[in-house]
Parts: sequence; structure tokens; C-alpha cells
Amino acid sequence: MRARSFQATRDGHLTQEMQQAYDDDGFLVLEGFVAPAACDALRHRMTALIDDFDPQSVSTVFSTTAQSHARDDYFRGSGDKIRFFFEEEAFDEAGDLVKDKHAALNKVGHALHDLDPVFEGFSHTPKLAKVAADLGLVDPKLAQSMYIFKPPHIGGEVNCHQDSSFLHTDPMTCTGFWFALEDADDTNGGLYGVPGGHKGPLRKRFHYDDRGDLVMEVLDDTPMAPEDMHAPLIAPKGTLVVLHGLVPHRSAPNRSPRSRHAYALHMVDGAATWSQDNWIKRDMPMRGVS
Ligand code: FE2
Repeated sequence: MRARSFQATRDGHLTQEMQQAYDDDGFLVLEGFVAPAACDALRHRMTALIDDFDPQSVSTVFSTTAQSHARDDYFRGSGDKIRFFFEEEAFDEAGDLVKDKHAALNKVGHALHDLDPVFEGFSHTPKLAKVAADLGLVDPKLAQSMYIFKPPHIGGEVNCHQDSSFLHTDPMTCTGFWFALEDADDTNGGLYGVPGGHKGPLRKRFHYDDRGDLVMEVLDDTPMAPEDMHAPLIAPKGTLVVLHGLVPHRSAPNRSPRSRHAYALHMVDGAATWSQDNWIKRDMPMRGVS
């Protein structure tokens, strides 16, 4: 059961059919939302950022002998920075990369949209603001950004989850905007979503507890729908996939020889109350989209 997909409108506005699909499914696949050249520009910019990045600067974080708290601290402090996260076992015990740094990264996050001019331009557009407005976000704020590599052969799977577990507001308004920078489908680690799954409860919350530890708290043990009910979200290069914060989704491992780069933005509504115990901590205020 393949998910419905639509051709994006020129100015980003959502037709009645698109709105209905999002209300029904909890996701929306908009092909051709960004031009292929814009996808290429983002990929080239990321290549340049990696060129300038010295992996030795984080070898103590990712080496196999590193203490887990070093990795925790690197993650915790990434909300308002551009930080590089490597695949498992990318470094050996001596702290040296076992492969080329360009092929060893899992993701880069979480403030590309604030700190890098090319990513900032991609992330703040009237067209994206129009989508957010038509989805009902009153005061959309960009909370985080991630560049996801999903490299050929080794790109790991991302387990079924709900994004509101990680970016919580009251009421819940987290919305994901996932851009396919290369063709993404069910053969190279593409996305899957549970149609209508956003009508179920929030299962877990990832947040700081009273002791300052990050915990994954179970709120509701209703099981997620089994995998045979997950719909592949086929996303040719340039597609925007919108994900409701409550819709369960996942991505498969990439066993193919093709890479599958993607860029993901998450918005929350400034009209809702931000949950102060969310994992993400920022010194910079969150900005709007346009
Ligand atoms: Fe997600």
C-alpha cells in the first residue's frame, strides 16, 4: 500500500485534497517541492562543511573506548550548533577514522538552519511558510534541523517513533518537514508511515528528568501498528514529506549501493507552550520560517 503523493503547488499552498490527505493519513508527500538544483546546492554545501571539519576534534567523543557521557554531552549541546555525528564504529580504538570522513557520517545537526547561510536560505522561504500556515501552524518556529546521510550499504534503520516524543509542546504541534535531496524509496532506506496513526496517543517522551538526566518515559503502551500496515513514502529527489508529530514513522536500513541524503526540519507552533524539559537547549531564540 503505497502512500498518496501530490505534485506540489508553485507557491506551496495546499489544495483541499492535500489537506484531506494530511488529515486522513498524518503525512503528506509533495513531489517537486524544491528544484533539483536546490537539492544539489545543499549537498554541495554539506560536502564543503565536511571538508572543513576535522574528525580528530571529536575522536574522543566517538572512539570505541570513549565514555558514553562524552557522546551524551556532545549530543546535548548540539541544539544551537552544527555538530557532526558519525556512524557506529567509524573510529578505531586509537581514535582514527576507519574510513573517509565523507562516508562515515550518520547526521549533522541541529542548528544548520540558523548558523549556515546556505541552509538558512533553504529553510526560510515564503513557500515553506505557506505550507506551515495551511497546516494550521499559527506562529511556526524552526526548532531544529538535521542533515541525514543514510550512506550506501551501511545506513542504519531508524526505529518507528513519533516526533512529538522529542519536541513537545502543549498542545502538541511538532511537525516534521523532510526533504529528499536524492531519490528515496523502499529500496534505499526511504521513509515509511502508518496511515492515520496520528490519531493515536503519544507513546513516549524523551526529556530531562528532575536529576538532569535524559530519559525516555513511556506514557502509553498502546502498540504501534505492525510493519505490514506501514506505507512506503516514495520520495523522488525534490520531494517534501510533511509528518504530523504524532504519526508513527520509520526508515529502513539502506542496503543498496545508492546514497539517500535528506534534510529534515522540525517546527513547533509559537502559540503553544514549549515544554521546558525538552532535550533541545538553545541560547538563540527560535525563528520563524519566512
Ligand atoms: Fe522522525
